[in-house]
Amino acid sequence: MTSKRVYNFSAGPSMLPLEVLEKAGSEITNYRGSGMSVMEMSHRSKVFLEIFEEVKADVKRILKVPDNYHILFLQGGASLQFAMAPMNLISKTGKADYAITGNFSKLAYKEGIKYGTCNIAATTEASGHTYIPSQSELKLDKDASYFYYCANNTIYGTEWKYIPDTGDVPIVCDMSSNIISKPVDVSKYGIIFAGAQKNMAPAGVTLVIVRDDLLGMELPYTPIMMSYKTMVEKDSMHNTPPCYNIYMLGLVLKWIDSKGGLEGMEKIRTERAKILYDFLEESKLFKSPVRPDSRSDMNIPFITGDEALDKQFIKEAEAHGFVNLAGHRTVGGMRASIYNAMPIEGVKALVEFMKEFERKNK
Ligand SMILES: Cc1ncc(COP(=O)(O)O)c(C=O)c1O
Repeated sequence: MTSKRVYNFSAGPSMLPLEVLEKAGSEITNYRGSGMSVMEMSHRSKVFLEIFEEVKADVKRILKVPDNYHILFLQGGASLQFAMAPMNLISKTGKADYAITGNFSKLAYKEGIKYGTCNIAATTEASGHTYIPSQSELKLDKDASYFYYCANNTIYGTEWKYIPDTGDVPIVCDMSSNIISKPVDVSKYGIIFAGAQKNMAPAGVTLVIVRDDLLGMELPYTPIMMSYKTMVEKDSMHNTPPCYNIYMLGLVLKWIDSKGGLEGMEKIRTERAKILYDFLEESKLFKSPVRPDSRSDMNIPFITGDEALDKQFIKEAEAHGFVNLAGHRTVGGMRASIYNAMPIEGVKALVEFMKEFERKNK
């Protein structure tokens, strides 16, 4: 048990900004004179609809979402989008292209093949997903209904540094682990989706941004809850939306404004990641398994090469207030997930701790 907040390096759900938690706490029993918590409000009430409209407007403004796109707040996590995207898009030609660069794009591919022919445009599986393929390595089909990729591979710590050029083929992108960490050109995408629980809000809401011309092509057996068209027509309220999570996302977006918007976030993320990567380069004990040009600024795996020492490191780190540093159960080692809410001081303190651990374990 600890009475103070720890540096939480969890891959998700992850840290939220302290200011956001405090603001939510101050409004938890009586939201701005409404006499009730946001958790207790009807989603059709005037007071909630005001919150909802403001959050939607803030997503549009902060991500510079063009007018021919719709903003949806859905449930089912990012994982539901693995099925929802093909069910809504693949009917155009019956085919889609997938880049498999980690666990989540593989899961998306496995969903996709249930609904049509999915070609593997690239896979980094043989390398242990240690890099991102270049544009020339993508085997693209110009008749694909869409091209699918995952912008940041949470488990393997790789991140796409470019938006693939797919010609007229719409891009579907899973941005769960790097959304709102840097500016993004939404106009290059057909669909962007992201589970909230890393950079945006508590788990339970999935942000989906969908281009208008991609609506209305769902397969006939698509459940109504999984039709983008229905959700657009009902403004995300075919059923009760995840109201409290949407409100929390709103608070996070105001916090992002206070930090200089997405340009501000990008500056901080670059600086924060550089501190850890610079140390990994100079360390004789710890090293990054990821090819330098593909390294993520959000999830940074590292290893000592000795499993017992890795375990000892994780245990000692936890005792010093650096928690959730174990790598994903499928890959082992360590991983520091450093999303928007992780202060730079958290990474500096972690590096100091790593230096000390290295000195003691030479
Ligand atoms: C990149 C990415 N995509 C998808 C998921 C799955 O998200 P969810 O648990 O919201 O379904 C995760 C979860 O960690 C993720 O990191």
